[in-house]
Formats: sequence, structure tokens, C-alpha cells
Amino acid sequence: MRVFRMVLACGAVLTLLIACVRTPQRPVEKTVAASAPLSLIPWPVSLTRESGEFVLHDGATIAVPSDNAALQTAHYLSDLLARTRGLQLAVDGEPKTKAAIVFAFSPSVENKEAYALDVTPEQIRITARDPHGLFYGAVTLWQLLTQDESKTATVAVPCLHIEDRPRFAWRGLMLDSARHYQPVAFIEKLLDEMALHKLNTFQWHLTDDQGWRIAVTRYPELTKIGAWRKPVGPDVALANADGKYGGYYTPEQIREVVRYAAARYITVVPEIEMPGHATAAIASYPQLGVTGKRPQVSSDWGVHASIYNIDDGTFAFLDHVLDQVMTLFPSPYIHIGGDEAVKDQWLASKKIRRKMRGLGIKDEDALQAWFVAQVGKDVSARGRTLIGWDEILQGGLPANAVVMSWRGAQGAIEAARLGHDTVMSPSPQMYFDHLQSDLPDEPTGRPSVVSLKDVYDFEPVPSELDAQQMRHVIGAQANLWSEYLTTPARVEHAAFPRIAALAEVLWSPRDARNWNGFLARMPAQLARYRALGVNYSDDAFAVKIEVQPDGGRRARVTLSNQTGFGTIRYTLDGSEPAIHSRIYSGPFIATMPTTIRTSAFANDESLAARRSRELDPQSLLRLRSDQLKPCKSGLALRLEDGPGEAGAYFNLDLLDPCWSYPQLDLSDIRRVDVRIGTVPNNFQLWHDAAKIVTRPPHSHAGELEIHQDDCDGLLLASIPMKDMPRGSLATVHADFSAAGTHDLCLFFTGRSPDFLRAIDWVTPIPN
Ligand code: ACM
Repeated sequence: MRVFRMVLACGAVLTLLIACVRTPQRPVEKTVAASAPLSLIPWPVSLTRESGEFVLHDGATIAVPSDNAALQTAHYLSDLLARTRGLQLAVDGEPKTKAAIVFAFSPSVENKEAYALDVTPEQIRITARDPHGLFYGAVTLWQLLTQDESKTATVAVPCLHIEDRPRFAWRGLMLDSARHYQPVAFIEKLLDEMALHKLNTFQWHLTDDQGWRIAVTRYPELTKIGAWRKPVGPDVALANADGKYGGYYTPEQIREVVRYAAARYITVVPEIEMPGHATAAIASYPQLGVTGKRPQVSSDWGVHASIYNIDDGTFAFLDHVLDQVMTLFPSPYIHIGGDEAVKDQWLASKKIRRKMRGLGIKDEDALQAWFVAQVGKDVSARGRTLIGWDEILQGGLPANAVVMSWRGAQGAIEAARLGHDTVMSPSPQMYFDHLQSDLPDEPTGRPSVVSLKDVYDFEPVPSELDAQQMRHVIGAQANLWSEYLTTPARVEHAAFPRIAALAEVLWSPRDARNWNGFLARMPAQLARYRALGVNYSDDAFAVKIEVQPDGGRRARVTLSNQTGFGTIRYTLDGSEPAIHSRIYSGPFIATMPTTIRTSAFANDESLAARRSRELDPQSLLRLRSDQLKPCKSGLALRLEDGPGEAGAYFNLDLLDPCWSYPQLDLSDIRRVDVRIGTVPNNFQLWHDAAKIVTRPPHSHAGELEIHQDDCDGLLLASIPMKDMPRGSLATVHADFSAAGTHDLCLFFTGRSPDFLRAIDWVTPIPN
């Protein structure tokens, strides 16, 4: 029905040949498609809506100029639409002007990634100077054709004119395949998803302390030994039949990934870490290290002591490795890591100190700079550009080297002032291993929340730079470090939808960024993710349920969502929240026991999975580990032990696992229930190890102690852990009587080298 009316509207205009002019000569019948706001992400440089619309029918044709790359893009678009929209389009390799969709080359389009897209009642036309631009035009067209989740045989597109080009040249996403390994099929899925966000640089973190992931013909031990480690914690469930965790990519697989990426206009930038983060390489070939001892491929997270030595043989090894890397990866940039290199082993080695003196190298930073310069020669001899994390600035860096700024913006500022190109990738905004919300079901990661809005608000160009220096900021990149992103599903959860915000930061003009406009475009984007099978996080829209006692059986309920977008609805009668459910308009009183079920809605669609909470007087005062306060600010993480503890995530401070329940009226409390579990203790803390707090145990397995006020305050309860082995999740009851309002301090005595005991929640039980 809707389509019929749209055809009529456009048909009438067509006969008058005044269709799609910027000022319509006479009113045109409005349709939903013609008036609805368009959900494009990233938002284009310019978009002019015109009257009328084009109706694309199943079976329509894409006509393409005689050009292989353009033809490939047409097939890409047609496959994508078949997969996500249920529309079958034919591709015609003969240039035609009459087809429904026309791709055309035009020398007038300014840059090679730029395109123009015109929708008239007669056809849709994408014009670009280069196949690159045609590809991005095709992505925009796919978005125009997927404004909602419908799968009808026709789709109406409003008449419009788009001109578009990216703001930055480096629109990056990094995946760490070293800490956790992802299969090639997933890498390709991620590349596909990147392309649909107009991202063009995939940095592939292929080597680290915990795994060497690229097969190098000359050095078979790198993959025989270096690619495998002992599984710890959640990895136990992911181990192979030999009880090892790991994997690697063969040259054939890498060529396939590079080809797959290139077909989507993505450059794969390989990262081979040096001189630190080298434990897996040294475990494979101990002669590359300083001590001569063979370390284990590490199962620990953190900063390791292993570092390459500076022998000629080591540079020959790196030369051969990089030679193969540069043969496999045509990327103009080769990333050599350079971060977090602990130089203690260098400083402790007489041989290295002697060589430093011989070379006139004054200190360890200058030695790292010298190391990078040696490797830089190999890279530039092959016409490539070296890029490294911002530590490569220390002690001086090779001419033309590009600096990836991760310890804030300072590296980028310094690099740009020195005339080097730089990519902004600062922690935490660009570190997608940070949590996205404080919801109870948020999986593992680094606890300070990097929300969708935090990413959206990120500005890659530091304001400290002058106009000339600003030109050295060639883009930005988000990083998917995988210590806590154990599986491809977790990687996707961390990446989406923050990648949509990243896309807009990197592609759209700064002035075009508009948070509310972006949010209004997100429901369509989430629908696209569903059509693509993306395991995205709905945390930005999910409803958070907060409760407070209000006397007797009454609880005061507050509902909110992170973005404030959508209408929150809820039920208390056991039914699922739906578009007719009660609208939340402010805190309300619920009578216990009851269960609250809630979701946020926009355009009559639910924006997030329903969240619920059972309310009863017993659990009302419960605080989860992320709601308890850490006793000190140390090294906070959100961890799991898994398998078998699905859904139990523990926030703890690694240096001092100790939690504080604030301001509890103990006179009203009969006892305190504490749910406890364990998490792996697999961390290399380097100098931070000196800050670990260990409290003496009074029995073999230690105790859970609860103190009044602070951790040295009155001992209220001490519960032996003797019957609680690693991996068990148990609730213990601490009975005590006390009076007055106090903080409670909770900690475990003793500390095993293998695991840490952790608190899941604390529930004071009222009298
Ligand atoms: C880094 O996060 N170590 C680059």
C-alpha cells in the first residue's frame, strides 16, 4: 500500500519532468520514506533532501563501468543487500544510463575516497573519481536501503544529493590476536563490519608475550612453541585436545585476509612487537633473549621482563621476520610496537652495557631508539614507513616514523611538533577493552567505563597544535586488546556499537557531529547489526534498575539508561515490557516481593534486551562488587574465572583485593551474606608488584574478614575458606551483632599465586 502511493507520487512528478528539484514546483504527496529522518552513520559531508522518491524493486539492476574494482563493489553491494535486506539485484558490467542503480566515474570528484550519491525518481547514481569512492557510495546506499528492518520486495528511497569524503586518512581499528586468538572467519567478519563503517585501517597485533601468531617459514619454532600457552581461567574451556591454548595464521591465511580486506578498501597493518612484549619469540628461540634462559610463553597479563638482546643474530632474525611480513602485507606502514619495553635485563647485562659503551649509547632509552633505528633501516629499505607506539619518541626516532599516541595525547603533540605524522589512539577513550557500562551483566574488562558518548565526544586533533602541526594528525584508532575479550563474541560486544561513534569521529566533518542526531540514527544501525549477525552491546540503551529501601515492604525504584534515549517502560505483573507497558516518568514505590521488568523503546521498537530485578526485603541492600567501593585506588579489573561461573563477574583491585560497604546501619542488620568466588591470578606487575597488599592468614586457606569502619577496625567476622576450593561460587553467612552506622571493610587473608578470592556481592540481611 505504502509503495503504491509512493510510485504514484513519483510518477506524477516524473511526467512533469520537475522531479527532485531543490524547490518543488508544486506540493508532492508526502510518504513516510520521503519525510523520515535518514539513518546514515557516519553522517556525510553534505546531504540535500529533495522532493519525491525512487522505488527500488527486487530484481533491479546495478550498471557498472567497465572496471573490475567497480564490478567487485557492485557484487559486494548486491550480496550485502541479499543478505541483510532480502533484495536480489542484478549486476550489469556494461555501462548503462537507464539502470535502477548506476555507478559512474567522474574526474571532477576531488579525492579518491570521495563520492557523490544522487537519488532521483528515475534512478540512483553513485559518482566517484576512483573505485574507492564508489565503494563508500555503495555503503551509503546500503544504509539508505536499510533504514528499518523490513524485508519487503521494494524499498523507497527519498530523492537526495549527497557529497561525501572522509575527514581523516587513518580510520583504524586494532585487534589483538596475541592474547586471545581469533579464527580467520571472524577476522573477515570484523573486516566486513569495519568496511560498513567506512573504516580503512586494520592493525593486526600478531605477536606478544602470550603468543606468536604469524607463521614464518625460516623459524618454525615460532609457531610450534610460540603460538601455544597454558590456558588459565576462562581459557581452560577454550584449550585444544593437548590442553594448550593458542593458534597461528599461515601465509595462505594471511594472504586471504589481506585480499579480503583490500576488496573492502582496508589496509592491514601488521604489528610485530619489539624490543619488549617478546616472550613468545624468546620462548621459541632463547638465543634472542638477554638471559639465555628459555621462558614459558606467558599465560599472564601485564608487563613482562623478557626483551630481545642486541646481537647481530637478533637483528638478522627480525630482518628475516619483517622481510616475510612485508612480502605478505602490502601495507605502506609496518608497526613495530615499541611500547612497555622493560629494560631491566638490558641494564643487568654486562655484554649489553659493553656494547652500549662501544656504540656511545648513553642510556636504555637511547638504546631502544638505536634498536628501532636498526629495524627502521630494513623497513625503509623496502619503501615502507615504520610506525610505533609513542615510546618510540624516547631517545629519538627515525625520520618519517609515525607515532601512535596511546598514553594520552602527549605523544601525538610531541610527534607533530617534531614534524612526524601521528595517529591518535589514547587510553582510555580509544581502548575498547574498557567496560561500556556499569550494568550487572557487563562482561569482563577494564572497569573505568568508556561509554558510547565518550567515544563520540573524542576529538582526534589536540587543540595544543597549530594549524601546520594539526595536519600531522592523520587519524585515530580504537584498540581491541584481548586479555579480557576471550572470544570473538566478546570482541564484537566490545567493538559494537562504539565503532559507530568512532566512524563518525573519523569520517564526518567535526561540525557535523551531533550526539542527539547520532542517537536518533542508532535504532536503524542496531537493526543492521542484527541483520549482519553482530553480537553488539545494547548497554547504551539498556535500562539500569536502582532500588532503595523505603520502609517495610516498600522499595523506591529508579530507572534510567546511559544515553537517556528512548522511552523507558516497565511491568510489575510478570509480563514482558512492550510498547503499551507503563511509561516510567520518575522514581516510584514498589511493594515487595515483586519483579520489575523494563526496557527502553524508540519508534515502537525495543532498543535493548529487557532487564529485570527481583525485589524482596532480603536482597534490597545487596551491593555487587562493582557497587562496593575498592578500599584503595590501585589496579582495578573486572574478571571471571569461568567456566562454570557464567555470569559471575568480579570487580577487584589486583594490588589489594578489598571492598568497602559504605554507611550501613548495623543496628538493623541480623547478618551479612557474601557471595564469593575466585579469579585467576595471572599478572606480571613489574614494579607494581611491590605494592601488593597481603594480609596474613590465620589458617591454611585463609579467611574472609569483615571489619568495622576501616580494614584495621574492629573485627566483626572471620570465616575460614577451607572448604572453598578454587572455582567454587558460594554464599557465606557472617553473623555478628553491632550497633550504629559504619562502613564495612571486607578482604581475604593470604594470597595464592594461582588465584585470588573475590567478592561477587554483599547482602546485609535486616532484622
Ligand atoms: C599499549 O597499550 N601498551 C600500547
